[in-house]
Amino acid sequence: MSEYILNLLPVTEEEKREFEAIAPQAVHVYAGRRTVTQEQLEAATVIFGWPRPSDMKQARNLRWFQTMWAGTEEYEGMLPQGICFTSSAGSNSRSVAEHMLASLLAVCRRLPTYRDAQKAHRWEDEGAMKTLLGATVLVLGAGHIGSEFAQMCRGLGAHTVGLKRTVRGDVPGFDQVATMEELEQWLPQADVVAMSLPHSPETVGLMNEKRLGLMRDDAILLNAGRGSALDQQALEKVMKEGKLWGAALDVTDPEPLPQDSPLWDIPNLIITPHVAGGMRLEITRQACIKQAQDNLRRYLAGEPLVNQVK
Ligand code: GLV
Repeated sequence: MSEYILNLLPVTEEEKREFEAIAPQAVHVYAGRRTVTQEQLEAATVIFGWPRPSDMKQARNLRWFQTMWAGTEEYEGMLPQGICFTSSAGSNSRSVAEHMLASLLAVCRRLPTYRDAQKAHRWEDEGAMKTLLGATVLVLGAGHIGSEFAQMCRGLGAHTVGLKRTVRGDVPGFDQVATMEELEQWLPQADVVAMSLPHSPETVGLMNEKRLGLMRDDAILLNAGRGSALDQQALEKVMKEGKLWGAALDVTDPEPLPQDSPLWDIPNLIITPHVAGGMRLEITRQACIKQAQDNLRRYLAGEPLVNQVK
């Protein structure tokens, strides 16, 4: 059956030619999230990119959809029945891991406090700092992002422990990998707890008040996965009570974080507006295009697709 490939990815002219060479028999149509038409959605048998979830019900002929993001929850319950759904997991991992490391080092070196002091033209030594040398970094979610982040931390002398749902051998970057069931055992041992978890029924509210309470008083918390995995009210409570050295959140629940959220004003808590990944680095965009092209080759050859969600 001939394919109608609706490509909503940010592709260059050269990359368009590459898609066309991979599937010479197919119809290739390029559009954007906002410019895509109802006719194109209806005709599409394959969609790549980031269509509005509410548009997906129009895709009556769809057989396969690959989102350009790692997270897939926005399409839950929004896709036509029986289609194949793949993600672009892994394409943004370098970007997100670098952002996590940047925020972690900023918190270790008290940069938010020094920035506040700079704004007030105040020259003041804020005292002790933290190093990753010899620190135990516990990563919740030892997937692509967690693994990349762990490799960076290990390069700086940290001991890295990854927790994941199921353990099937070693994961690059980790000195040890264990299952999520061991979470409460590991929390008191960690100098840094870094969350890179997807949104799922198992992860919602995972870092709750009890678990935040198990962290060391001077530990650092990072969240760059999904905001729903962290109980933000509990974080506010424990930090206001003086627990934790600092924290950095690139994701919140809800997003945007409401203007009146008390989290904005907590010292040594860095908030960035879900910008760790996305298409902010050319290497992320290129990785995303390469994944779509590789999966298209597999799809046409009848081979299993990479990053299959369902
Ligand atoms: C970013 O949050 C992504 O899901 O790719």
